[in-house]
Amino acid sequence: MKVGGLVQLALLGAALLAVTRVQALPVGAKVQTKAFVSPRAMERHLEVHGHRGGRGEANEETLAAYADAFLAGATHLEWDVGITSDGVPIAWHDENIQAAKCLDPPSGDHVVGKYIANVTLSQIKSLDCGAQRLGSDFMLQQTRKGARIQTLDQVFTFAQCVDAGLPAAKKIRFNIESKLSPPTPNTTVGPQVFVDKMYAAFRKHRVVDRVVFQSFDWRTLQLMGEQHPEVVLSALVSSDASYLEPIWLGGIDLNQQPGSTLAQRIVHAAKSINATYLSPNHNLNGTEVNQPGYAPFVDTDMVRAAHDVDMKVIPYTPDSLDTAEKLVYTHGVDGLITDYPTTFTAWARSRGFQLPQKRDVVRVQRCLKEARARDDEP
Ligand SMILES: *[C@@H]1O[C@H](CO)[C@@H](O)[C@H](O)[C@H]1NC(C)=O
Ligand SMILES: *[C@@H]1O[C@H](CO)[C@@H](O)[C@H](O)[C@H]1NC(C)=O
Ligand SMILES: *[C@@H]1O[C@H](CO)[C@@H](O)[C@H](O)[C@H]1NC(C)=O
Ligand SMILES: *[C@@H]1O[C@H](CO)[C@@H](O)[C@H](O)[C@H]1NC(C)=O
Repeated sequence: MKVGGLVQLALLGAALLAVTRVQALPVGAKVQTKAFVSPRAMERHLEVHGHRGGRGEANEETLAAYADAFLAGATHLEWDVGITSDGVPIAWHDENIQAAKCLDPPSGDHVVGKYIANVTLSQIKSLDCGAQRLGSDFMLQQTRKGARIQTLDQVFTFAQCVDAGLPAAKKIRFNIESKLSPPTPNTTVGPQVFVDKMYAAFRKHRVVDRVVFQSFDWRTLQLMGEQHPEVVLSALVSSDASYLEPIWLGGIDLNQQPGSTLAQRIVHAAKSINATYLSPNHNLNGTEVNQPGYAPFVDTDMVRAAHDVDMKVIPYTPDSLDTAEKLVYTHGVDGLITDYPTTFTAWARSRGFQLPQKRDVVRVQRCLKEARARDDEP
């Protein structure tokens, strides 16, 4: 539309001016937040990752949540990986099976409460992880009785079904986390097993060039980077002090890193393991921009330090649009990992960002039906 086009041109001009001004500032100078417009706004490019598929919209890491991210036209499906006692990588966030999310099978077998590392795939498949809504946190979550936890293979197969026929550049991308915890090594298998099993699946499904491999446990990033340098790495960081200890960061001591702020030291550490992305929690207090007690963890200093060394910043998990706008327009982040991919992609499009096409609902429904049939999911 003509008018819209003119407005966009004007915005682009303003953005160009603002960016020129920012670049002219000496390193370390304070930036007027109003004047700072991310170069991303000019590129019209923003990543929107559906967190655990889109757990605000459907039970986390179930087919319905992944389907939501496709229907929204998210750039990335984000999910986690654990490994069963019989060695199968599955798509699940927690190291153990939580009663708030999954129900035991009618057979009487007790799987809830156990560690994934201690149960077989067939026990995992007996669980109903769709019947319960995580009500107080996710009041809009669609439930679906009988939804099964998926294997890593199955998520890729579902994605391949939805995106069959699209050129590689238009297919959805994946941001996949290895879920293990260095302080409690006996709760999962070790880092090398994660790297081997996950890389084998990336290769098998020919998605190596569409995967971002992320972890709070930087040992897995280091191993993946050394053994398979073609895999893009994302360094997850939590502002929680215990997660900033060397045990989580693959032995790196942030106090030994260069930089005058914690943010700069974190960026330097992530760069030193060849991570392409830095993915921190956006806030310090667990609240959104428009709520009491809000304090940012991701800020302009962090994003500029990352951009200076060609790293992208994609914070988790902004769930309000005020937060999204602050992160994108004030701080200049490259993307957002959100529980609400439908709302966030709609917002991003309305702001002029170019996102992938929304996938055809009939096709997604057919792929869902086929995937559920393979699992005897009710
Ligand atoms: C792991 O080991 C610690 C002590 O070595 C023990 O207290 C804990 O119960 C173990 N946890 C599991 C899940 O095996
Ligand atoms: C697995 O089960 C064994 C005994 O059956 C127990 O000692 C161990 O702590 C369990 N490990 C996990 C990760 O649950
Ligand atoms: C990072 O990448 C460079 C260039 O490919 C390589 O030489 C170096 O060994 C890598 N460093 C790590 C820690 O993987
Ligand atoms: C939010 O976090 C900051 C930094 O940790 C702290 O100073 C502040 O007191 C916190 N605010 C609330 C309301 O918890």
